[in-house]
Amino acid sequence: MQNDKSRSLAASSQHATAASDDPIRKEAETALDRHAHFWKALARLPRQVLAQFPTPLLPMRRLGRLVGCPELWFKRDDLISFGFGGNKVRGLELLVADALAQACDVIVTGAGPQSNHVRATAAAAACSNLRCVAVFWGDAPERIDGNHRLTRMLGAETVFTGDPDRASVDDGIERVCSDLRDSNQRPYPIPRGGACPLGVLGHVLAVRELHEQCQAANVDPELVVLATGSGGTHAGWLLGSRALGSSWRVESYTVSREAQAVRIEIARLATEAAALLGLDWTFSPEEAIVHDGFIGGGYGVPTSEGADAIRLVGRSEGVLLDPTYTGKAMAGLIEHLRSGSARARSIVFLHTGGEPAFFAGGGEWLG
Ligand SMILES: Cc1ncc(COP(=O)(O)O)c(C=O)c1O
Repeated sequence: MQNDKSRSLAASSQHATAASDDPIRKEAETALDRHAHFWKALARLPRQVLAQFPTPLLPMRRLGRLVGCPELWFKRDDLISFGFGGNKVRGLELLVADALAQACDVIVTGAGPQSNHVRATAAAAACSNLRCVAVFWGDAPERIDGNHRLTRMLGAETVFTGDPDRASVDDGIERVCSDLRDSNQRPYPIPRGGACPLGVLGHVLAVRELHEQCQAANVDPELVVLATGSGGTHAGWLLGSRALGSSWRVESYTVSREAQAVRIEIARLATEAAALLGLDWTFSPEEAIVHDGFIGGGYGVPTSEGADAIRLVGRSEGVLLDPTYTGKAMAGLIEHLRSGSARARSIVFLHTGGEPAFFAGGGEWLG
């Protein structure tokens, strides 16, 4: 007797000729090919191994009960095993490999003196035998602490633009690179926050990690939540989620720019990152769900809701969030869970790191 499987195989072979002419099926096959191509092309990119992956996916049961989320998980990218960790290490594995492939000898990047991205870049450059120049906005502060101190300790040279405008870093990076070229050196510029298409592809691997971890642990998150600054991390999660056909929503809380500006940037970065792999996938700003309302006094200025969120997470789970990124994102998530607008039973919060901020300034904001 024919079982169900062999019956369906026989049936499909009878229809094989007709199906190959079927435009809908052809389109589906092409789409599958594209997805397969995506992962193959990503795997072929050179990587400078800096850390061990995957990072843990851990249940936050006590916190979940306190904030009214039945299944709350943290994806612990703060525990990335390199230079104090954090999300930026993922992009750097691809960027540093690219710098080495291009025979560059100095990495030039920038942001504010307390930048996690710059500290991670300084570490990545140092252990890859590359020099690093860090361009910081504003003037050199009197007190050198937190990430700024770590960046210097890791051997990066620091340059201040003298302009408090964060965008002054972009021109600063260009100027430093041009001076270096004039003196016959080979600079490799990395834009502010590491937000560039190649860097975005590093975050795509985090998406696949989470997908595999969820399958293994039988977890089915409806929502992935993260903090967004330059937008590169969210862009990677958007792109990776499409490549995997994941059913979860990805939502972020902006900590610096106004939400619509970040949505545009995320869509651009995700589209350009897909293009790097030879795919014409496009993303619209509407696909990037970014919440505002939790920045408070500005980028890097702690808020009282952020401090409350940090205390709650610390005291319930022993996990430390940071005041600039993850504390503000958690404050947003808690508010949206309490108001009922977060609408998800099972949530993964991406802990992107940032703890060196605890060692910057006097910490009065924490009470
Ligand atoms: C700890 C931490 N979380 C989140 C972010 C935001 O990432 P992105 O700039 O890719 O939006 C950053 C950026 O520097 C960060 O340092």
